[in-house]
Amino acid sequence: MGGRRIARIVFQPEEIARRVGELGAEIGRTYPDGELLVLGLLKGSFVFLGDLVRRIPRPLQVDFLVATSYGDAKVSSGQVRLVYDPETRLEGKHILLVEDIIDSGRTLNRLLELLGARHPKSLEICALLDKHLADGVLRQRPKFIGFDAPLEFLVGYGLDHAEDFRHLPFVASLAE
Ligand code: IMP
Ligand code: MG
Repeated sequence: MGGRRIARIVFQPEEIARRVGELGAEIGRTYPDGELLVLGLLKGSFVFLGDLVRRIPRPLQVDFLVATSYGDAKVSSGQVRLVYDPETRLEGKHILLVEDIIDSGRTLNRLLELLGARHPKSLEICALLDKHLADGVLRQRPKFIGFDAPLEFLVGYGLDHAEDFRHLPFVASLAE
């Protein structure tokens, strides 16, 4: 195995569940009408997205995007490539892009550009965690944020290190 150990739990399952409930309610209020397409960025968002959509009290559709950025490295390569692109029509729909964590913001910036060109009715970001390193870099401010993240490498609740730790029910930092 990767050999890395968990240093400490940063967000407990109960805290995450409470915050996800709040986000779901807030998202429900934000889109009183129109078609809503929740687009999960794989793989990192899969746990968050699964919990989140069940807390959004309005009709919606779910699809996914696969973009590669980090690979197994802990430092962003700056390359963002779409490996899976949803077949679903985006035009005229409210698009909510769901991301696990915002770090450099490179992935999101590229996606906002790509998806914006398809004429959605609106295009917003919902991220579980934000390191706030991308505040001056992002093309638009994320509308929904779960938690401000410490500047550590985090794993669990979908987030990985070299594909390990995604299944953990909490968010934790890795030991150096
Ligand atoms: P960005 O393009 O630099 O914002 O990177 C975004 C992607 O990098 C996220 O969707 C994650 O997959 C990954 N990432 C960034 N920071 C972390 C972290 O602390 N733990 C795990 N993955 C991370
Ligand atoms: Mg990742």
